[in-house]
Amino acid sequence: MARAETLNFRHLDVTRARSDDLDTSFQTAVGLSQQQVAYATASLYCRVARLEGQVIGAYSMREPYPAESLFADGSTDPAALAAFHLQWVGVRTDFRRRGLGGWLVGHAIGVAETKGAQCLDVSFAEQGDHVAVAGALFVALGFVQREAAAGQLGFRYQLIPE
Ligand SMILES: CC(C)(COP(=O)(O)OP(=O)(O)OC[C@H]1O[C@@H](n2cnc3c(N)ncnc32)[C@H](O)[C@@H]1OP(=O)(O)O)[C@@H](O)C(=O)NCCC(=O)NCCS
Repeated sequence: MARAETLNFRHLDVTRARSDDLDTSFQTAVGLSQQQVAYATASLYCRVARLEGQVIGAYSMREPYPAESLFADGSTDPAALAAFHLQWVGVRTDFRRRGLGGWLVGHAIGVAETKGAQCLDVSFAEQGDHVAVAGALFVALGFVQREAAAGQLGFRYQLIPE
């Protein structure tokens, strides 16, 4: 898909998600499961972008789970404790390639920073139609590829140098 004219972001209304914001048509366009939607709308860090009342893009992010920051000896890894996770970002099909995906990830980075994050991690299935586009998006924004769980591709945006 060729790049189209960039959206005017001043016209966007960005809020926390209400339960009916991520409706079936949005879920289908972005490829979200029911479980992802349920988790996102319960999350403190799910944001939706509306244009003239219609949700055209959204993301969901979470804080680190305490268990993720435990070393085998029971001590805490401060770096893992400060890693936020972007669970997904999605833009409605007819609004893609107009800068919104990158703008939403930038918004997530800003929110994570205000909450004390040192980095923002993202991972997604390493197989599927989304891989080339998602990889290009995160690399273009300055994320660096890193190790991830089996079957996943992982990227990290470092907010504070290690
Ligand atoms: C990934 C996604 C959020 C991108 O949203 P978008 O609004 O189209 O992204 P942007 O317009 O901000 O593009 C930012 C950069 O990403 C890359 N990119 C985006 N779409 C691309 C495409 N179709 N082909 C190649 N590169 C692409 C480009 O580097 C682009 O910068 P450029 O336009 O200056 O070349 C959108 O395609 C989507 O919702 N996909 C389904 C869900 C998904 O895969 N999410 C990511 C994994 S969690």
